Amino acid sequence: MRTTRSATEKKPARTRKPALHPDIREVLYTQEEIAAKVKTMAAQISRDYAGKEVILVCVLKGAAVFLADLMRQLTVPCIVDYVNWSSYGTSTSSSGVFRILQDLEESVESRHVLIVEDIIDTGLTLHYLLRHIRGRNPASVKVAALLDKPSKRKIEVHTDYCGFKVPDEFVVGYGLDYDQKYRNLPFVGVLRPEIYAGSDTPPDKP
Ligand code: IMP
Repeated sequence: MRTTRSATEKKPARTRKPALHPDIREVLYTQEEIAAKVKTMAAQISRDYAGKEVILVCVLKGAAVFLADLMRQLTVPCIVDYVNWSSYGTSTSSSGVFRILQDLEESVESRHVLIVEDIIDTGLTLHYLLRHIRGRNPASVKVAALLDKPSKRKIEVHTDYCGFKVPDEFVVGYGLDYDQKYRNLPFVGVLRPEIYAGSDTPPDKP
């Protein structure tokens, strides 16, 4: 007996994307949706920087996956550098006081810098990083962030290239972690609150 759907038969409506990991409540952006978005962002960045060399400054650890995919789609010459800033406070929200675990190795003076971030949440990391880089007299500084969570902003920051605006949820996957886990998930999804309930380091919830 044939079980395939006839051409006229409609697919049942699906309101939610399937959860592909037991700790994930909902998948917000699939691997395919992220790949398409990164491609669009890279095309825009390549157009804007045509004829220039850009230094990509990746904010560790979360932005590493985004950087790896983004840079391979760029058609302009680029150099990669990494910074790792640790915020005092909980492991999942910025207090605004940072410890620099790894600083820039490259000189950014008179060069074009593109900061590559995983998610802009309170905006504090980006605010202080921009100040840090601008103090070194670059030719220009722009920001590419895969995700933006505007509802949690504590300080106004401008993002030049933004992938997706996310709701006020704690998300993991595609480089983003909770307690250093879930970075390897190929999609971005909402972590089940049971996973961090009772933990010493719960995400900063709404
Ligand atoms: P900020 O609050 O904008 O300073 O963001 C600081 C960092 O917190 C980001 O670069 C992420 O690594 C992390 N972060 C913020 N929101 C989330 C989230 O929903 N999931 C995972 N990490 C997050």
